[in-house]
This record gives sequence, C-alpha cells and structure tokens, in this order.
Amino acid sequence: MLAPMAGITDHAFRSYMRELGAGVVVSELVSAAGLEYKSKRTEALMSFSEEQRPVGIQIFGENPEHVAHAARFVEEKGADFVDLNFGCPVPKVVKKGAGSAMLKDLPAMKALLRAVVAAVKIPVMIKIRTGWDQNSKNANEVVRLAADEGISWVAIHGRTRAQGYEGLADWELIGQVKAKNSIPIIGNGDVVTAQQAVQRLSEYGLDGVMIGRGALKNPFIFQESFALWRGDSLNSLPEQDLYSAFLKLRDYIVAHCEGAIVQIQLKKFAAWYSTGYPGAAQFRKNIFQVSSTTEILETTFRFFKTTNENQSELKMNGRVESQDQLGPSNDGFLMGGHG
Ligand SMILES: Cc1cc2nc3c(=O)[nH]c(=O)nc-3n(C[C@H](O)[C@H](O)[C@H](O)COP(=O)(O)O)c2cc1C
Repeated sequence: MLAPMAGITDHAFRSYMRELGAGVVVSELVSAAGLEYKSKRTEALMSFSEEQRPVGIQIFGENPEHVAHAARFVEEKGADFVDLNFGCPVPKVVKKGAGSAMLKDLPAMKALLRAVVAAVKIPVMIKIRTGWDQNSKNANEVVRLAADEGISWVAIHGRTRAQGYEGLADWELIGQVKAKNSIPIIGNGDVVTAQQAVQRLSEYGLDGVMIGRGALKNPFIFQESFALWRGDSLNSLPEQDLYSAFLKLRDYIVAHCEGAIVQIQLKKFAAWYSTGYPGAAQFRKNIFQVSSTTEILETTFRFFKTTNENQSELKMNGRVESQDQLGPSNDGFLMGGHG
C-alpha cells in the first residue's frame, strides 16, 4: 500500500503509482471540518479516477459528528474505503485533539470510531503510530478497540508521536501487535527496498506493508516487492529506467495539476529520484534554478543519461543494491509529515 503523504499523494501521483504496481492508494489527509465547506482545494484533494481503485480518502478531525459526516461524503464520492488519521504529529492538528492526539484519549477515539462506522457501508481503516510517547505505547490497545468497533484494518507507523521521524520504526512492536490480534495489520516505516518489504511482511506475519518515502526514491519498489513476494527474481521484470518513469509521471502531473504546481512537483520528483546517485547534490541545485518545464526535462534527462552511462547500477538489480546501501530512512530524507 502506498502511504498517504500530504503534498505528494495527489490525483496524479496515485494514478502513476497504481500504474507502477502499488496495490492500494489513499489520499493525503483532508480536514473533516474543511469538508463541511467543500472548498475547491478540498474537492481537488479528494478527486480520484477509476484506474486508482482500490482508493481511499483519508480524513482527520476530532468531532465525531463532523468526521462521520465527512466519511459519508467520502462514500458518496465513490471511494473504496475511508482512512482515519490518528498519526499526524503536527501541533496545529494535535492541539485540537485530532491526529495522534487521539492515541491519548481512547474514549474520544471510541466515540469517533463508533460514529464513523455507523455512518458508512464502505470499510473504515485507521492509521496510527505506536503510541504518544515512549511511556505510552498503546498500539495494542488501540488495535483491540478498533477491532471491537468494526474497523476493517489498521496501518501502524512504527514510531511514537514524540519521535516524529527520528530513530527507526519499531517493527518488533508492530509484529507483537499483529500476533495478538486477528484484525488485518499493515506495517509502515522505513521500508526502502523490495527485500525489506518482503522480509517485514513474512517475518512479522503482516497482512500488508505500507511504503511512503521509499517510493519517492524508487518508483519501481512495488513491482519489485510483488515480484520477490511471488518468488520471482528481479531480473524477470522488464528493464526500466528512472527517466522513463519520470516522463510517465510528468504526463500525469501535466494532466492533473495546474499552474506553478506542475513545475514544483516535477522538480521535487527529479530531486528525489536522483538521491544516492553520483552528482545528485549538484543536480538538485541545478534543477531548482531552471524555470521552464522543458529545461527541467532536459536537465533531468542529462543527469540520468550520464548516470546510466557511468553506472550499470541504474539497471534494476544494481539500483536496488545502491538503494540498499542508502540504508533505512534515517539518512534525513523527508523527516516530516502528517502521520
Ligand atoms: C511529506 C510527508 C507527508 C505525509 N503526510 C501524511 C498524511 O497526510 N497522512 C498520514 O497518515 N501520514 C502522512 N505521512 C506519514 C507517512 O504516511 C508514513 O507513515 C511515514 O512517512 C513513514 O513511512 P515511510 O518511512 O515509508 O515514509 C507523511 C509523511 C511524509 C514524509
């Protein structure tokens, strides 16, 4: 499953990732209170197309009535499931009692889950962290509550709210929660290679693995993970290169984004795809200085062409090895987000 990421998992990126093999996609967090106003921006965040199915919309809020109302709206829009955000660590969200603050107030969470499950027929999932802080890791209690209230599956980002994006995700804890509960559990945090995805899935007996930042460095991570999971070699996959994937993404971005957002997204993805390759730092400087879409494409093409010529690693197996060398996400890559 592709992890929800604000500013990233928009309509364009979800379609692209489904085409590149992600099993399930979900929108970034959308405010339940904001949905009451049905602003143009909110509508855009929630928009999806048929090829994205199964697709969910993630909502956050603290008021059971508002969130239930928002969930009903998500159902009316035709989404396949609703995702409730109980992992967002951002102060503005937490101060109101939403996001990860719900982990500290299980009676409030219970009332919210009950209202939402009663309001819709489509599955409701929740995405949580392991707890509020080191001294209150209550993922197991939260999962039990979720199962009792009719939640269909739970995604667990293996960090506490207090950790933010520091340290490493605690997969042992995710595995322990899975062992104690029969409700489907999806593990999340720091998966950057297909090998890690498959290893976590089998070692901890999980029902799924959710990948966020790993897919921003390697768009083929889902295809590769499914291949390994089926027992196929990565060599059995058709040869692909990052620049071709980038062009595919460009097509989706141009079709679904407007104005300056097109270039901003292209620059961000070009920079992320360059991570770990020789000359990436200089490339990132260059890419943020150019001002037209054509220049972005040319600069990116030159970078990946040189990389390709200099390194056989760009070919699938090698690329995976070079991603491996990067280690997990404690390399400071995008250490901030809404879950
Ligand atoms: C830029 C960014 C934005 C994020 N936005 C959301 C969000 O809207 N909702 C959510 O539940 N999690 C959000 N997250 C958290 C991710 O879904 C995921 O739990 C986290 O990044 C750990 O997984 P990863 O190591 O595979 O990236 C965000 C993360 C990042 C880096």
